[in-house]
Amino acid sequence: MSQPNATLSGPPAQGRPKMLNHLAYVTHDVEGTVDFYTQVMGMPMVSTVIGSRVPSTGDDFPYFHVFFRLDDGSTLAFFEAPGLPRANPKGHPAYDIFDHLAFEADKPEDIHAWAAWLLQNGVEITGPTDHGIILSIYFRDPVNDIRLEITCPLVEDWNAREDAAARDLRDWVEVKNSAAETGQDVSEALLKFIAARDAEQHDRAVEGPDDSLPRASR
Ligand SMILES: [Fe+2]
Repeated sequence: MSQPNATLSGPPAQGRPKMLNHLAYVTHDVEGTVDFYTQVMGMPMVSTVIGSRVPSTGDDFPYFHVFFRLDDGSTLAFFEAPGLPRANPKGHPAYDIFDHLAFEADKPEDIHAWAAWLLQNGVEITGPTDHGIILSIYFRDPVNDIRLEITCPLVEDWNAREDAAARDLRDWVEVKNSAAETGQDVSEALLKFIAARDAEQHDRAVEGPDDSLPRASR
């Protein structure tokens, strides 16, 4: 593990990270997690991402990513992937890929400034990766091996998509449960669902701009 270059220590020109954007953990039970955070903790489910390939690492992995909003706009996030063991933090590669802490920066240029700053300090980075709703770089806390991210929202409503999030959750759970009930491979069923969903979104994009899906300002 490389160590930061001590000669470049001190506050970076772009300042400190301004706030927590999201802290993300792996969960083996997304429905139970949604119930607890929305009903017990009172945090609304405000955004979701469903994917079959992790954009920042290229890993093939059907996953459901969900965000719960705090009062200041910061969020707590979880990932569910099929076949996760219960509460076994290092027993499945998903925990290494998905567990991370993300700081928010003001603008896309700051992400590039951070990337340069980290590289100058001997910290390896992945990205910048454009996720459509946010632009991110990834790296590891070289002391504690915690996966870190610095991210900049590219669309204003990235953490205010309650209706779409509720739809995504319903669809994900439906596909997962019906595959399990009918004895199908859950990962395969989810990959098929994600491919159909991606094709539908592609068709919508080709047909023209949709006001309900604001495009990233790049
Ligand atoms: Fe993230």
